[in-house]
Amino acid sequence: MTRVVCPGSFDPVTNGHLDIITRASYLFDEVVVVVLVNESKKGLFDTEERIDLIRRSLRERPNVTVDSYAGLLVDYCAQNDVAAIVKGLRAVSDFDYELQMAQMNGNLTGVDTVFIPTAPDYMFIASSLVKEVARHGGDVADLVPPVVLNALDRKFGH
Ligand code: PNS
Repeated sequence: MTRVVCPGSFDPVTNGHLDIITRASYLFDEVVVVVLVNESKKGLFDTEERIDLIRRSLRERPNVTVDSYAGLLVDYCAQNDVAAIVKGLRAVSDFDYELQMAQMNGNLTGVDTVFIPTAPDYMFIASSLVKEVARHGGDVADLVPPVVLNALDRKFGH
């Protein structure tokens, strides 16, 4: 059994995240989507809301579960018998930081990171931009699943 994690802030989950999670679920036996809790960064959605939105967005994939963790990702991996961290890579701009994190994580415990290239349709999607556009009433219907679209509408009172 090869268990991997798809970690992130997921504030909120986007179609880009879901594409990576789904493709990871075809490649590995078990995928755990882990919402990392960052106490010093107040997001739009709280951790429970983020988890709920991911669960309701995921297509029926029996080998995908959702969890949260407050701490180092490598500790979560060690405690949960995780073989590798899976990350989506959008562009060269992602690469520097993602490589740095992958190497730091590898240095800490030896856990490896696997990069999956983002599908061209999702290259420009980022949770931060989705929130900014939605906050001002812009159309993000093609960028997030319907449950997230409804949640954004409620948050921003549209
Ligand atoms: O969705 P994001 O914000 O790009 O995800 C970044 C995330 C949450 C995966 C990263 O910040 C992380 O792993 N945080 C947990 C704390 C940790 O392990 N930090 C050291 C990273 S080398």
